Amino acid sequence: MADVREERRRLEKFFSLLKEAPAGGFVSGQALARHTGTSRSAVWKNIARLRQCGYPIESLHGKGYRLAGTTESPVPWELYRMLGTSFIGKKNIIYRQSVESTQSLAIAIAEKQAGSENSNGTVVIAEQQSSGRGRMKRRWASPRGGLWLSVVLRPAIPTAASTMLPFVAAVAVCDAIRAAAGLDARLKWPNDVMIGGKKVAGILLDLSAEADVVNYAVIGIGVNANVEISKIKIEREKDRPPATSLQDELGHKVNRLHLAKLLLEELERYCLVLESRGPKAIADEWRRRSGMLGMRVQVVTRQHRGGERQSGTAMDIDDDGSLRVRLDDGREIAVVSGDVSVIY
Ligand code: BTN
Repeated sequence: MADVREERRRLEKFFSLLKEAPAGGFVSGQALARHTGTSRSAVWKNIARLRQCGYPIESLHGKGYRLAGTTESPVPWELYRMLGTSFIGKKNIIYRQSVESTQSLAIAIAEKQAGSENSNGTVVIAEQQSSGRGRMKRRWASPRGGLWLSVVLRPAIPTAASTMLPFVAAVAVCDAIRAAAGLDARLKWPNDVMIGGKKVAGILLDLSAEADVVNYAVIGIGVNANVEISKIKIEREKDRPPATSLQDELGHKVNRLHLAKLLLEELERYCLVLESRGPKAIADEWRRRSGMLGMRVQVVTRQHRGGERQSGTAMDIDDDGSLRVRLDDGREIAVVSGDVSVIY
């Protein structure tokens, strides 16, 4: 970890030297090596890393390197500067080009710092995941171009209220997408974010709790941002909605750095709403963004996966997040876990 931190500090140093270059903007390799106390080959390596982080850097023989623009990647030094939060992303933003799963890495961090406030608000972001995890043990395709992140939280809520944490995240993602991309994002139970009936983002919650206290919650958020859905392999399952991406919907790419900033700010905002005003306030926010209440649905509960399906009308959500469905035979049920598909 110390090595990673050291490497990041060095990278940030290179970045600020290029950013603060005098008029003309070129900084020689020699000057970069001198100011960072590294070798010429380390200069080359760090320039390559910055390019990998999305920065356009020109190189000119005899003149050196010049920062020719900015990045849209959610790199920590930019994100940290932009974030208007009080605890999310304020102490620790871990950024990787590639990981197995940001969720697994965030859980490991939360476990390591169990009992300490230190990891509250830690954010783990990766450009791509090799084993991205979805709900109900599904795989989550996570190529470059998406926004894949996990946040460690230690919310001051009773354990019973923790069922609303994924709803907190869904509301936050919905608002961030609306603000960053101007698209009409809507929510589908339990916490899918949809555009025009297609899924654009998903949320995963891993929780460590006792009967009366939440030790930590790790909220994983995956947004299909700048990915072309036709180019990625998504295993289509029966009853699952088709996927879309912000890029496919808009016809152009979005700025993921800006999207990440909005998303983390909204996440903190609604976490505080849950802490201060309780589950009902979050259920109200979710309802306002729902695209499915009043619609015909098919319920596939966990125990019925691959088995029995029941159809009816989605009526409302309860303050514990369960979905009330009036079945076609007139009975009303509360769906606690599983999948519900909307019948269009
Ligand atoms: C779903 O099935 O809808 C939830 C998908 C959650 C995916 C995100 S991407 C970042 C984080 N890391 C993971 O491995 N999964 C979550």
